[in-house]
Amino acid sequence: MRGLLLAGGHGTRLRPLTFTGNKHLLPVANKPILFYGLENLARAGIEEVGIILGPIKEGIVEAVGDGAKFGLKVTYIHQPEPLGIAHAIMISEEFLRGEPFVVYLGDNLLKNGIESFIKLFEEKQSDAVIGVTPTKEPQRFGVVEMENGKIVRLVEKPKQPKSNLALVGVYVFNDSIFEACKKIKPSWRGELEITDAIQTLINMNKKVDVNFVEGWWKDTGKPEDLLEANQLVLQELEPYNKGSLEDGVIITGNVVIEEGTVIHRDSTIRGPAIIGRNCEIGPNVYIGPYTSIGDGTKIVGAEIENSIIMNNVFIECNRRIVDSIIGNYSTIIEYEKNRPKGFKFILGERTFASI
Ligand code: G1P
Repeated sequence: MRGLLLAGGHGTRLRPLTFTGNKHLLPVANKPILFYGLENLARAGIEEVGIILGPIKEGIVEAVGDGAKFGLKVTYIHQPEPLGIAHAIMISEEFLRGEPFVVYLGDNLLKNGIESFIKLFEEKQSDAVIGVTPTKEPQRFGVVEMENGKIVRLVEKPKQPKSNLALVGVYVFNDSIFEACKKIKPSWRGELEITDAIQTLINMNKKVDVNFVEGWWKDTGKPEDLLEANQLVLQELEPYNKGSLEDGVIITGNVVIEEGTVIHRDSTIRGPAIIGRNCEIGPNVYIGPYTSIGDGTKIVGAEIENSIIMNNVFIECNRRIVDSIIGNYSTIIEYEKNRPKGFKFILGERTFASI
């Protein structure tokens, strides 16, 4: 079985974080989102993966390379415009045709990976397996209506959902999906929707089976989702400390500290939390639960909780920073001598500040 991992799209709902790069490289627990997908594919025994690259491809080829570090052989396929998941499958036909394959949306995180999808596909000899899970916001997703265990209808982002079952971004298909993709027309958002292609498979009397996904699932479409995904992944953190701790440092809960990092005196780290390489934390810093701090970051005096602080950030203030996402090379300082007194910002387009 081959894999197709989608890493195109503009990531507009994640702006400004995505102005400078691909959303699939944003970190969750200090690891690019895309890597979780690659690891899930490798863990399921898949060896060859096609990665769909959209217009914002910067960084992906550098980060993933030929896939060897994941135990995969990676081929890159270009989708010049974000014309939909079904379109991505169509342009990959040459790479995929001939054996069943998994389509994995690169911004999706699944606690339990994708093995259950493949198992069901093989057991039931399906033409397609889709994953569903109940959600509070079905209007954000593809929605599956079911009756007596059978699919009645699939609708992409319905305004008035008739069910709370969201389509998870993992699918297993055989070659019949190519014919279905060729039959559909673009949706209101100008995309060839995978949901419409699967509905077409059903109309063609193909066997579409449903995998009820166990364990958490997160689509990281919006900044809040990124923080929530960070919480979910950190909950399962295996603690270790490769850094050094000065006197009076208190560490509780599951905390990872990478090499080259120094936690200066009288700081407290309360896990789950992860701190990357070559950081300087403290003195007198509090890092609270559900915080990820990237590499090369320096934090003095502040309290930080439930946040993603990326690489090479500098924070020096006696303030409490919560529920925040801070991009690479950002600075937050409190400048006592600042006259006239007031908050001073240099914020990029579409930045969000809550003071
Ligand atoms: C896509 C699919 C949708 C699915 C979702 C899962 O939505 O079109 O059916 O529920 O992924 O992440 P998109 O991310 O393109 O809005």
